Amino acid sequence: MAKDVIIACDFDSKEKVLNFLDKFTNVKPFVKIGMELYYAEGPEIVKEIKKRGHKIFLDLKLHDIPNTVKKSMAVLSRLDVDMCNLHAGGTINMMKAAIEGLTRPDGTRPLLIAVTQLTSTDEESMKKDLLIDKPIDEVVMHYAKNAKIAGLDGVVCSPLEAGKVHGACGDEFLTVTPGVRLEGGEVGDQKRVTTPKLAREIGSDYIVVGRPITAADDPVQAYNRCVSEFLG
Ligand code: C5P
Repeated sequence: MAKDVIIACDFDSKEKVLNFLDKFTNVKPFVKIGMELYYAEGPEIVKEIKKRGHKIFLDLKLHDIPNTVKKSMAVLSRLDVDMCNLHAGGTINMMKAAIEGLTRPDGTRPLLIAVTQLTSTDEESMKKDLLIDKPIDEVVMHYAKNAKIAGLDGVVCSPLEAGKVHGACGDEFLTVTPGVRLEGGEVGDQKRVTTPKLAREIGSDYIVVGRPITAADDPVQAYNRCVSEFLG
């Protein structure tokens, strides 16, 4: 199974992201484009980065009625991205519709990953705001299983949950894991962090690394360190 390091390109302009990517002369890292960059620059930035030879995880977390998600996924699929995502909270029907929309006429499609509960949602706010009384771990695993039933390829989760997700949904079900920090690096606003090496040991399939690479004095060296620790 393909394992890789994905750089979270959380920049707010085309100029900044392309300047950053220009530093990588020998390798073309897998990059994540999130809402900030996509809303600032639109689909053209996806096409530009793809044209430069990078794989792209388009992190737009769709959540709407099944018909709208299906049609929107068809548009994203035509952008030739490699991975995209949605909220599992949109239900199994919405996730099935997303797969239909994403599948190209030749049968190929980008990988589709589900967000279970956002890591910013804790058990208390889930109970109070969403009226969900079950323990958060149970909710996360239930949403992961729903994603699998709908035919999705995996979930976004903490590296610390990767083993449990594989236990519940199988080894082939992908775990895409942010919250990664190099040994001795700044933790920032992440609560539970893991090194690339530990993420590998727990069984993470893709690590998503942002500031430890984008804010490093030498981003290429930081990326190479993540790759060698994660891929071994
Ligand atoms: O800079 P840092 O390494 O913390 O970036 C992590 C990336 O992963 C950011 O783009 C963040 O939005 C995303 N993410 C996360 N935690 C989640 C889901 C996504 O950190 N649960």
